[in-house]
Amino acid sequence: MSFVVAIDGPAGAGKGTITKLVGEKLNLVNVDTGATFRCVALNMLKENVGMDEEDKIRSILEKINIEMYPDGKIFLNGEDVTKRIRENDVNDFVSPVSTIKIVRDKLLEIQRKIAEGKNVIMEGRDIGTTVFPNADVKIYLDATPEERARRRVLQNKEKGIETSYEEVLENIKDRDYRDSNREIAPLRKAEDAIYIDSSEMTIEEVVDKVIDIIKMTRI
Ligand code: DC
Repeated sequence: MSFVVAIDGPAGAGKGTITKLVGEKLNLVNVDTGATFRCVALNMLKENVGMDEEDKIRSILEKINIEMYPDGKIFLNGEDVTKRIRENDVNDFVSPVSTIKIVRDKLLEIQRKIAEGKNVIMEGRDIGTTVFPNADVKIYLDATPEERARRRVLQNKEKGIETSYEEVLENIKDRDYRDSNREIAPLRKAEDAIYIDSSEMTIEEVVDKVIDIIKMTRI
């Protein structure tokens, strides 16, 4: 039996940071499902496969091997792609790739397998609605687009990347629209998910709140 905590929400809401910290504190395996979509997008870019080339996409999916390690490292077909999957070409391609049905079907299978027999905290867009509709705890983490853009600009700055607030805000609004309006497994709050608006909360406050919610469920 495994214990599953599902954390869903839009781009830049802080899911990655919160999932990692809560996972460490409660000894839950941290699974970043966005990274699995990024691996498929990167594989397609490397092999020059377009969105409508279904046979080639199918062949990539048949061979794909994604490994996630507790230290956060991600390997695609034996190669360390931890940093590579965060680069701009992947950022731009991943949202359209995540609308392809055969990609979602295959990744659903991989994501469920990763959690088998483990206690996990899994972050994404459709974990509480589709991947684990019976998750033990469901949280929908949100923040205003303006706050998410402000955080993303700061995060980029720390990595030495200068980005303009307006450009980042526009990109976030675009992604929100695409992720929420796609046909299969769109981003939305599961009916039984607990909603947290982190716009005016510190990271520590959100971590404490999520831990309180999990502890209440576990008792
Ligand atoms: O969380 P992220 O930015 O790494 O996610 C990259 C893309 O993958 C995002 O634009 C939407 C998609 N995604 C998804 O459709 N379902 C998930 N469970 C996770 C990510």
